[in-house]
Amino acid sequence: IKKTFAEVQTERLEQAERTILIKCPPKLNEKKLLQYLSSHGNIKSHFLFENRGIHALIEFSEKNSIASLQDAIGIPSAIEHHVVPFKSRLFTFMLKNPVSQAAEETPVHLSPQSHIPVKDLIQKLCHADSISSQMYILLNEYQLTEENIRLRFLACSLVRDFARAYFPDSVVRPFGSSVNTFGKLGCDVDMFLDFHDTQKRATKMKKGPFEMEYQMKRLPSERLANQKILSVIGDCLDNFGPGCVSIQKILNARCPLVKFSHQPTGFQCDLSVSNSIAIKSSELLYIYGCLDSRVRALVFSVRCWARVHGLTNSAPGNWITNFSLTVMVMFFLQKRSPPIIPTVDQLKVLADDKDMHVIGGYDCSFVSDLSKVKPTENTETLDVLLGEFFEYFGNFDFRKNSINLRKGKEVNKPESSPLYIWNPFEQDLNISKNVNQPQLEKFVAMARETAWILQKEDKTQRMINKEPWGLAALLIPFGKSNNSKMKNRVKGIGSETIRSLLDSLKLNSASSLQKAVEK
Ligand code: CTP
Ligand code: MG
Repeated sequence: IKKTFAEVQTERLEQAERTILIKCPPKLNEKKLLQYLSSHGNIKSHFLFENRGIHALIEFSEKNSIASLQDAIGIPSAIEHHVVPFKSRLFTFMLKNPVSQAAEETPVHLSPQSHIPVKDLIQKLCHADSISSQMYILLNEYQLTEENIRLRFLACSLVRDFARAYFPDSVVRPFGSSVNTFGKLGCDVDMFLDFHDTQKRATKMKKGPFEMEYQMKRLPSERLANQKILSVIGDCLDNFGPGCVSIQKILNARCPLVKFSHQPTGFQCDLSVSNSIAIKSSELLYIYGCLDSRVRALVFSVRCWARVHGLTNSAPGNWITNFSLTVMVMFFLQKRSPPIIPTVDQLKVLADDKDMHVIGGYDCSFVSDLSKVKPTENTETLDVLLGEFFEYFGNFDFRKNSINLRKGKEVNKPESSPLYIWNPFEQDLNISKNVNQPQLEKFVAMARETAWILQKEDKTQRMINKEPWGLAALLIPFGKSNNSKMKNRVKGIGSETIRSLLDSLKLNSASSLQKAVEK
C-alpha cells in the first residue's frame, strides 16, 4: 500500500530530527564508531558515503540520544580560528591515536550519492532486451536512493534548527523534485519555511465567546515579510551555519529565495518561504508518479534525452525546465486512449473533506488516498509510449494550443507565449513563460527527429552491429551519430581513429552484405 504524500513527509521529517551526520577519518572501523555512539542510545539505522571524505549518517531510535551525545562532545579549540558556538548535529569523529587505531580499519560500504555518467549508462542500456527495459534501467540508475532521500530531509532539518531560533513553530520542508518522485541523483534541494502550525493554532483559539491574538509586526505585503525573514535566516546560515557556503539572497525574484551550498550533505539548496501551491503541485506529481510504473520511467527517459540534446540546462534561461517537461509527459499520458493517468478535475471529484484546500483563492483540492484512484486499463508498452510521446509533441499545434492538466485536453492559448503550460492550480500562470520561440522550435525539431529514428530503427541489425540501439541511440547527440563516432562513444576508445575506421568499414560491408542477402 502506497503512503500518502503527507504521511511520507511527516515520517521523513521526524526521522531526520533523530539523525546526525559525522565526518570520519579516512581509515575507519565502522563497528567501533557505532559502538562508541551506542552508549548514547540505540542506533536505528546508518550508512556511510563519500563527500570530500567519508561521512556517516546515523539515525537514533530516540531524539534525546542526540542531546546526550551533544552533552558529551567537545568544542574545537580556538588556537588558529575562533569558532561560533552554535551547536548543530554535524560532528567530526577523530582517532586519538591515529597510527595504532588506523590499523583496525575495516573495509566499508559507501552508498553512492550520484548517478553514473551518461556514457556508462549507454553501455548498460545496450545489454537490455527491449526499449522498455532500457527505460527501467535508466530509472534505476538515476532515481533518488533511500539514502539520498534521507540526506535531503536531513539538510532541511538542519536548516530548521536555525529557523527555530526565531520561529519555534516553524518547519523546513522539501518540495519539488526531492519529494515528487521525479528527482534524479544530484538535483537541487528545494525547501521552504513553513509556519503552518502557528496558523492552525490560531483557528482553534477563535472558538468560544472570546478571541485573543498575538501582537505581531505588520507589514504592507506578504512578499515583504518573506523577504525580511529570508534575509535574516540567510545571514544566520552565512554567519553561523557549519558548511553553509556561497549564500546568495535572491529577494527580488517572483518567489524570493536564498540559495546556498550545503557542504556536509553536498547539496545545492534553494530556500524560500511557505509556498503552499508549490507543495500541492509536488503532491500532484507524487500521485501521478505512484499511480503507474510507466509514468516515472517515461519522465526519466524524456528528461535525460532533453539534457543530452541541450534542451534543458542547469543554468536559468529560455530553456524548457524539467518541471515543464514532466508536466508535458503527464499531459501526454492523460491523452492516451484509454488514459494512463486521470486529469486534475477527475482527481478532484475523488477528494474527500480532508482533501479540500483552497489556497489564495485557488482550488487545490484533489484526492490524497492513492487507493481511491482506479488503475488504468491502458496496457501500452513503454516502447510504444516513448515513440508516441515524440510523435505527439513533434506535431503539437503550439501556436494555437496550450497544455492543461486540469482538463486533460488542449485548450486555446490565453496569451501568446510560445509555450503555454497552465499551472495546475494557479490557473492564470504559465509555468513555461520563460521559454522563447527558438528553444521551442529546437524542442519540436528534436522530437521529430527522435520519433523518426525510433520508427526506422532496426533493433536486431543494430545489435548485430554492436551499435547503440533504442533508448541508447537517443542519448547520443545527433550530429555525432555516424557509425564510427558512435562506436567510439560507446566503447570510450577515444582517439583510436584508425582501428574504428577499419571496424566501421567491416561493419558497413557486413551489413550491406546482409541487406543484399535479405533482398
Ligand atoms: N514550480 C512551479 N512553477 C514554476 C517552477 C517551479 O510551480 N514555474 C514549483 C514546482 O512544484 C516545482 C518546484 O517549484 O516542482 C521546484 O522547482 P524546480 O526546482 O525548478 O523544479 P523541480 O521539479 O525541483 O526539478 P529539478 O530537478 O530540475 O530541480
Ligand atoms: Mg528543484
